[in-house]
Amino acid sequence: MTERILTIPDHYGFIDQEVYDFDKALSIYDWKLKSSEVVIDFSQCLTANYQALALMVLYLWHLRANNCHIALRFREDKKGATQMWKWMGAIGWSQVLHNEQQNFRSTEMKPLVALRNKSDFEVALAKLDAYTKGFNVEYEKTLRYVLSELMYNTLEHGKKFGQFFNQEKRIPSIIEFTWYKLRNELHFVVADIGIGIKKHLEQSFGPFETDEEAIRMALRPNVSGTFAVNDPYISKNNAGVGLFLSSNLIKRLNADMHVVSGQGVVHVSPMDVTGRTLRHSWPGTFVLIKVKLEQEMKLNLHALMNELREVAGREISRSEKEESLNRQLLVVNNYFGKHAEDKEAAITHRNRYLLPAIEEGRSILIDFSNVENAPHSFLSALLATPIKRLGMDAYKKIKIVNASPEIRETIDFILDENT
Ligand SMILES: Nc1ncnc2c1ncn2[C@@H]1O[C@H](COP(=O)(O)OP(=O)(O)OP(=O)(O)O)[C@@H](O)[C@H]1O
Ligand SMILES: [Mg+2]
Repeated sequence: MTERILTIPDHYGFIDQEVYDFDKALSIYDWKLKSSEVVIDFSQCLTANYQALALMVLYLWHLRANNCHIALRFREDKKGATQMWKWMGAIGWSQVLHNEQQNFRSTEMKPLVALRNKSDFEVALAKLDAYTKGFNVEYEKTLRYVLSELMYNTLEHGKKFGQFFNQEKRIPSIIEFTWYKLRNELHFVVADIGIGIKKHLEQSFGPFETDEEAIRMALRPNVSGTFAVNDPYISKNNAGVGLFLSSNLIKRLNADMHVVSGQGVVHVSPMDVTGRTLRHSWPGTFVLIKVKLEQEMKLNLHALMNELREVAGREISRSEKEESLNRQLLVVNNYFGKHAEDKEAAITHRNRYLLPAIEEGRSILIDFSNVENAPHSFLSALLATPIKRLGMDAYKKIKIVNASPEIRETIDFILDENT
């Protein structure tokens, strides 16, 4: 077996000099390790952030599922991350994984919860309630609502299974809360190592170019990866509004929400929504929330929800129109198969669909997933004329996704040739 040492650096967290920097926290993980001897070294870390450290639990579960042997190296003086790990009850990570009845034995102030089932769900809500005891009831209900939506999402869409001792088992999601007394801020994270937002949504919406784009889409009303599951015998349980509603409630609470999935991160604040692409990815999804606890804040959850549902209704009709009017989708594998070589068929498709779409000013999205080869002559037959018609606009109006490097290069060449 090969041995790998992963060191948790000092000042380990999501914020670096007052700005969020997820790359630093995510860079320590190596998700490819299999059947290795892995040492996680906590001894260098004196200051850390609880939510960042809690993600390590998911990583350990992932390593276990990949048949790694794991050793944790702590500080002898038991300070810093070593102590935090203990306070969260994270030393029980292995037992919690293997025993569905067991959860983390955290100290009261640093609850870490494994989320697998209904009773874990209730445990997590009870922890949240403890922070808002004595607050205005509406405030409490609003926070509960947000947490519940995030927990439903991770339970429903963020499932992850692993093989443990030849048995398939669900890897739980986790939740960690920390209350910062001086600032009176509550921070919490809901995290999983499931398939991530992009892949989940692609089941319904076709491909996205980036994780960030998919996360932004998930925040919109009436958007759900479950819509594709088209079984008339299963009633429709998801409306696709959970993230829309909870992200909007977050704004009203004067709080902050970061959604990290794959290489994407989107930040929802009372002011705006911003996003970017990270260098390091998280193989799943986590949502980080920071809320200043305000006893005096006047809220009426019921009225707020009605207001947001109305906004959602307007947004839906607008976006549906935009979607169908503005984009022509071509899934190459569906039309031409994994060996996309039929030049005549390409020409027919081009004349029947692509050129008219361009005439109408729509953009074109071409998905090459599962396409193994597409020779220059095929791609040129399909794309050269549309590119010529569009001129420089072709770079903006023709989007290519999931293409292998060779196909991508050939298309870039055709683009250069024809513009
Ligand atoms: N933890 C997650 N893992 C993977 N995908 C997720 C996760 N959370 C959200 N998503 C994706 O974002 C989509 C939108 O989530 P949202 O909560 O808004 O709607 P929903 O859960 O599908 O429906 P509803 O919340 O109304 O029951 C989901 O359908 C899923 O595709
Ligand atoms: Mg939901």
